[in-house]
Amino acid sequence: MMSTVQDAGVAHMPRITVVEAYDGLSQRAADVVAEVLGEKPDAVVTLPTGETPSGMYKELVRRITSKELDFSRAQFFCLDDYLGSTPEDDASLTRWLRSEFLVPGNLPEGNIHYMPTTAEDPDVAAAGFDREIAELGGFDLAVVGLGPNGHIGFNEPGSLPTDPTRVVDLEEATLSQSAAYWDGKATIPTQAMTTGLGTILKSRRIVLIVSGKRKAEIVRAALEGPSTSDVPGSWLRQAGNRLEVILDREAASLLTIK
Ligand code: GLP
Repeated sequence: MMSTVQDAGVAHMPRITVVEAYDGLSQRAADVVAEVLGEKPDAVVTLPTGETPSGMYKELVRRITSKELDFSRAQFFCLDDYLGSTPEDDASLTRWLRSEFLVPGNLPEGNIHYMPTTAEDPDVAAAGFDREIAELGGFDLAVVGLGPNGHIGFNEPGSLPTDPTRVVDLEEATLSQSAAYWDGKATIPTQAMTTGLGTILKSRRIVLIVSGKRKAEIVRAALEGPSTSDVPGSWLRQAGNRLEVILDREAASLLTIK
């Protein structure tokens, strides 16, 4: 069951879709990806890593395998990764993405744009990454998650809505979140490269997916608190009705607009 709390009827408002549970969130996110690719098979997309999108990737792989969905012409950009890390490292979001989606989804290697985390000059490479996105016409779709401290990609607190793709320092909260991905067994670099909020905010469509009670407070801050660098997710509201927020009931539980 799905309910739209705040509909796109109000032109400038983000659409907030609340589903009963995690599975509904994964289905709805996969539906949006399919919708975008249905309209534009060679769409330029960025999709996140982390625990939240796992179900979406399972569903996308299922649809690709059953030929309901054709992902073969899409241009796929990685959203973020640790600075200096390669898929051979224990802590690698790119390796995670490869095993959860890029390989089982059979995406053509030539259409995948990896984060240039090992570039000799990461600042120049980050600017080149943004240039590549712009040259392809910008993102048609950016699906993002929300970090425990309100980060988007690795746009940590302090980030501005105009920030480009760049190297960032990771906060303590993010380092412990990352360590938990690998049961504390991997060394987490203290810096990362992230697609900038400015780059994400230019997307034709943005989807924010958030699940679970432990994110309820930061969801409230991002959607109902002031737009502030303290909570980078709050800047997404600048996208107006280009933004859809998909929440399960627990993640939405502290919202006052219901
Ligand atoms: C991670 C990633 C983000 C992700 C967010 C939420 O650190 N850098 O791209 O969207 O934090 O992660 P999770 O879904 O595991 O809660």
